Amino acid sequence: VQEAGEIQGVIRCPYHSWTYDLNGTLKGTPHVGGINQHKDERVPCEKHGLKALRSHVWMGMVFVNLSGTAPDFEEVLRPLTERWSQFLGDDGNALMHVPREGGAWQVEVKCNWKLAVENYCEAYHLPWVHPSLNSYSRLEDHYNIAFADQFAGQGSYAYNLADVEGTSLPTFPSWPADRLRNAEYVALFPNVLLGIQADHAFAMMLQPLAANRTVEHLRLLFVGQDAADAPQYEASRQAVLNAWRVVFSEDIGAVEGMQAGRQSPGFKGGVFSPEMDQPTHYFHQWMARRVLANGQNQVQG
Ligand SMILES: [Fe+2]
Repeated sequence: VQEAGEIQGVIRCPYHSWTYDLNGTLKGTPHVGGINQHKDERVPCEKHGLKALRSHVWMGMVFVNLSGTAPDFEEVLRPLTERWSQFLGDDGNALMHVPREGGAWQVEVKCNWKLAVENYCEAYHLPWVHPSLNSYSRLEDHYNIAFADQFAGQGSYAYNLADVEGTSLPTFPSWPADRLRNAEYVALFPNVLLGIQADHAFAMMLQPLAANRTVEHLRLLFVGQDAADAPQYEASRQAVLNAWRVVFSEDIGAVEGMQAGRQSPGFKGGVFSPEMDQPTHYFHQWMARRVLANGQNQVQG
């Protein structure tokens, strides 16, 4: 299965056309026992189904654990879901819908994935890198977020794209009426960037290709199936996607410049603003702890 879509009936391997039902049971093995012999007792279907993996679907993404040893996903996520329940309610995830068409964007950037996380964690660069965003969500209306070991980012008290672009989309029913302009942007370490606004959310997955190349996969989520798919909201969905496409495109020059700077022999480490870079520093510490722990494991054998 090479791309997103709705699978109807069976999953078919494109190589020899073996087919599996949606539970992963092997159903069809054409010519497996020789020409026109579609069954062979030496290749019993019940022994050759797809392998089961631990997985969890959340905010339009599938999280997979290959080793089987990861902690329970809902436990890991709990600090964030508890924080966000004040906006999204307890059923926020069930309300979020990924559009069947559109609502997604991706771009390859010439930087290490960690620089994209670093850049996402702070709002300090807003006035200079994002003049348009800064017009509807100003730097001075932002606050830092860092908590529970693996989340950091920023929030805004004054996100008002709807006023600027005239968008009209359904909002989360639980979102407090007096805080409709609140928005929060949190990196879920290591490589997922999340944003919530009253009338939409987004998730960006950072896919590392090499030490200095990353693909950013952005996907929008809207409140309810209609908001995601109905024609009446098409213009608003496009305006939201376009606004984020502009913002994330503006960051490309910054993160690619950071990558080039770090490859310079003159680079001897950077400087943090004690006020503006707290979430970024939080991510650095998280990363450093894991690098050190990994080195320790290797030493121990
Ligand atoms: Fe940015």
